[in-house]
Amino acid sequence: MSEKLWEDVDRYLDETLTGRDAALDNAVTASRAAGLPDIAVAPNQGKLLNLMARMAGARRILEIGTLGGYSAIWLARALPEGGELVTLEYDPKHADVARANIAAAGLADRVTVITGAAIDTLPTLEGPFDFAFIDADKKSNPDYFQWALKLARKGSVIVVDNVVRGGRIVEADSGDEAIQGTRRLYETMAAEPRVSATAIQTVGVKGHDGLAVALVVAD
Ligand code: SAH
Ligand code: DHB
Ligand code: MG
Repeated sequence: MSEKLWEDVDRYLDETLTGRDAALDNAVTASRAAGLPDIAVAPNQGKLLNLMARMAGARRILEIGTLGGYSAIWLARALPEGGELVTLEYDPKHADVARANIAAAGLADRVTVITGAAIDTLPTLEGPFDFAFIDADKKSNPDYFQWALKLARKGSVIVVDNVVRGGRIVEADSGDEAIQGTRRLYETMAAEPRVSATAIQTVGVKGHDGLAVALVVAD
């Protein structure tokens, strides 16, 4: 579900506050032209990720689910000199589009796009990562959270996208594996003493959805 007012407000916020530029606009148009689905984070959400990564002082960032690299550009821009973003993408076509968009944004030196199913590529990574953004296949959210935690340190931040899905997250008997995966994510987070977590609902150009945020409070 989406409402025109939510979209009007998002546009107003983007025009007045969030800021946009050619590299981000190019990532959107090039991804669309290549036939990628229009499911990247909204501009104000990308800026929020950028600010959160900076608030966390992140030098190494992990992203699961690259698509055309739109959120990756926002996140890579949060990095200090010498920092790096590793982003994992299953679809080789998405990964190629992302690499081109990231290069066009002048960020190729600090971003590595790794192609493959994240569950296979995560075990090849070495931590610690200071910040993780989980935004891939939602059925695997509990596994991705466990990996992000394994690759984290005390003080790391883990953010998960699409955790409300138009409110369908409250349907305990849902037959949708994405909903069940995200419900298990909440259970996993709640039972994990090493994190303190919350989730918020959002509305805007992406409809009614939400973000979960976890702070790693113990090694
Ligand atoms: N973070 C991006 C949007 C990601 S969309 C942005 O906001 O700009 C979700 C992406 O996850 C898609 O590109 C999809 O191909 C990828 N994906 C799906 N299953 C995956 C898996 N098993 N491993 C890695 N990536 C996966
Ligand atoms: C979908 C995936 C996303 O990551 C998103 O932000 C919105 C929609 C999807 O698979 O439909
Ligand atoms: Mg998403």
